[in-house]
Amino acid sequence: MAAEEPLVLGIETSCDETGVGIVRGTTLLADAVASSVEEHGRYGGVVPEIASRAHLEAMVPTVQRALDQAGIKASDLDGIAVTAGPGLAGALLVGVSAAKAYAYALGKPLYGVNHLASHICVDQLEHGRLPEPTMALLVSGGHSSLLLTEDITSTVRSLGATIDDAAGEAFDKVARLLNLGFPGGPVIDRYAREGDPAAIAFPRGLSGAKDPAYDFSFSGLKTAVSRWVEAKRRAGEDVPVRDVSASFQEAVVDVLTRKAVRACKDEGVDHLMIGGGVAANSRLRALAQERCDRAGITLRVPRPKLCTDNGAMVAALGAEMVWRDRAPSAFDLSADSSLPVTDTHVPASHDELHRLSE
Ligand SMILES: Nc1ncnc2c1ncn2[C@@H]1O[C@H](COP(=O)(O)OP(=O)(O)OP(=O)(O)O)[C@@H](O)[C@H]1O
Ligand SMILES: [Mg+2]
Repeated sequence: MAAEEPLVLGIETSCDETGVGIVRGTTLLADAVASSVEEHGRYGGVVPEIASRAHLEAMVPTVQRALDQAGIKASDLDGIAVTAGPGLAGALLVGVSAAKAYAYALGKPLYGVNHLASHICVDQLEHGRLPEPTMALLVSGGHSSLLLTEDITSTVRSLGATIDDAAGEAFDKVARLLNLGFPGGPVIDRYAREGDPAAIAFPRGLSGAKDPAYDFSFSGLKTAVSRWVEAKRRAGEDVPVRDVSASFQEAVVDVLTRKAVRACKDEGVDHLMIGGGVAANSRLRALAQERCDRAGITLRVPRPKLCTDNGAMVAALGAEMVWRDRAPSAFDLSADSSLPVTDTHVPASHDELHRLSE
């Protein structure tokens, strides 16, 4: 392990947020984000070409803003980390190209890291180093997984994942059918606070005795909400948006927390972390706390701003890579839009490392 906590800059461009963060070990120094979310709003989802162009325009000013916030010079850095995948191919490419340029110009090592492992590692900035092992419930716009995390820089085992929609995707689709705009999670969270979670009995996917214990399914729930709302509209009645939001949200977070606590018990793991954009959900946080307290599990959830995409999470994982002496990536690193969750980073091969050191 490195003698001192390393100073690392992280670049995140996997979707519609240009994030640049700077950390020293597990301490957050800067978190600059430029979002193109408003440019996508009228399309009801992220348009890849618009996102890529916005990353290109925002990159240099956002890096400069992060350096100013942290009060450091680029030459002080010990490494540059970047999201190598998964995500939108064109958007990732902008971040990877920028990170290569900075790393090459500054003569610093480059670390291509996994966006999903970064969503887990970001919690180190809030609660210190992750206990090993930690169970991670990763719930975001594109993923819903239970991950047994033995070492966030190298060993993540997938216990289960969604077989159809991701949790965040379900929030976004239900918000669209209620005409609440995009992204759906925050607005449903807000409406749900004034609604009755027991008003409508929506289905809990894959919760039968014979169903896979750790997989998720949210597509049936989305269809059930859609049918219920359509029936109301056909009957000419008002749709009770607050009750629909609260009942839908309850169905999602009930299943997520039950399966996560069960995985902890089955695997004998006493720390659960929840990461990804949906971890910002207030009801998910409250119910997870309640159920973890009852089961004697310590819950770790980063503050909401660190749950959605940001550069600090990438810097956090990069710093952990440096601290643990993990091999850097080669300069021919490419973006991998479907990088598997178990590949925490993209190290250079032995031959490439040899060439680099010559
Ligand atoms: N308070 C909230 N409640 C529920 N969902 C939320 C909340 N805040 C954000 N979300 C959801 O989180 C998702 C965005 O999370 P995140 O930024 O991690 O996703 P992503 O980066 O697009 O996907 P991935 O990380 O899988 O590539 C959106 O689907 C959004 O609706
Ligand atoms: Mg994400």
